[in-house]
Amino acid sequence: QSSVLHKFKGVIFSTMSSEELLNSLDSFEAREDDVFLVSYPKSGTHWIAKVIENIPNARLTLTPPIELGDISKFEELKTYCERRVIPTHLSYSMLPMNIKQKQCKEMLCLGIIYIVRNPKDTAVSFFHYYRDNPNLPSIETWHEFFDLFLKGDVVYGSWFDHVLSWEEHKNAKNILIISYEEMKKDPSKNIKKITTFLGLNVTDSEINQIAWKTSFTEMKNNTAKENCDPNHTICALTSNRNLVFRKGAVGDWINYFTSKQKRVFDELFTEKMKHSELAKHFGD
Ligand code: PPS
Repeated sequence: QSSVLHKFKGVIFSTMSSEELLNSLDSFEAREDDVFLVSYPKSGTHWIAKVIENIPNARLTLTPPIELGDISKFEELKTYCERRVIPTHLSYSMLPMNIKQKQCKEMLCLGIIYIVRNPKDTAVSFFHYYRDNPNLPSIETWHEFFDLFLKGDVVYGSWFDHVLSWEEHKNAKNILIISYEEMKKDPSKNIKKITTFLGLNVTDSEINQIAWKTSFTEMKNNTAKENCDPNHTICALTSNRNLVFRKGAVGDWINYFTSKQKRVFDELFTEKMKHSELAKHFGD
């Protein structure tokens, strides 16, 4: 069964994120040492979350996402004592004011890690998520989903709007942009970037250990075995793991996009991303 979706500020959100919840975010109290894990859906949130969970002695706690779950979960965020790592799929414009105001006050800096992924692979991943998720409107075919994705008529809105809203702030010293493709190419190098950004000292062998533990195969195999304990933080991000660990590959889009879809998508990409530096990263 598919459930009611809410449109808020022109963007569709699933039932789990009602307008009330988003409004209530304005009363959300950010802390100076918070770390936000931000991404458009299907860009690798669980992967980076798992990387952070595996940093030894980090004294960080991964919380439930701020845009999912009910208000009580949102309240629960207040109860965390350790430095919080808070996942969210919100675009910059929807971010609670309080978070923006907390940015870089004197030496203290609220940190934001933005994860970005090639939009074509993101779309394919999102298609599977939509198709297999009973909480979302039913989508039968890739063609159907492709049109919705292009129009931004999917939960969390347009990929372009999301990425551009964050790229605008890429030079802020409390924002680190990590790309899915770079992570795939050189996990250790990017894990090092993350630990340095978080101000944590980690040895090379620890970094390699994290890279191994968070490889796609490891994550898929281990999470499939674990029962979903809601107290487990990765579990708190999603109720159905099979919807999260699918293929974990770069370039799977080629198996879905027709040549016409590629052309249409590339044209839109060129137009929307003409001032974007990130665009070069995805030139294919
Ligand atoms: S969600 O539901 O929006 O939070 O999903 P998210 O975690 O952002 O993205 C899910 C996609 O990330 C892939 N994934 C990984 N890729 C490589 N390595 C690791 N360790 C990994 N973990 C998750 C996951 O398979 C989804 O991509 P697709 O293309 O669908 O496989």
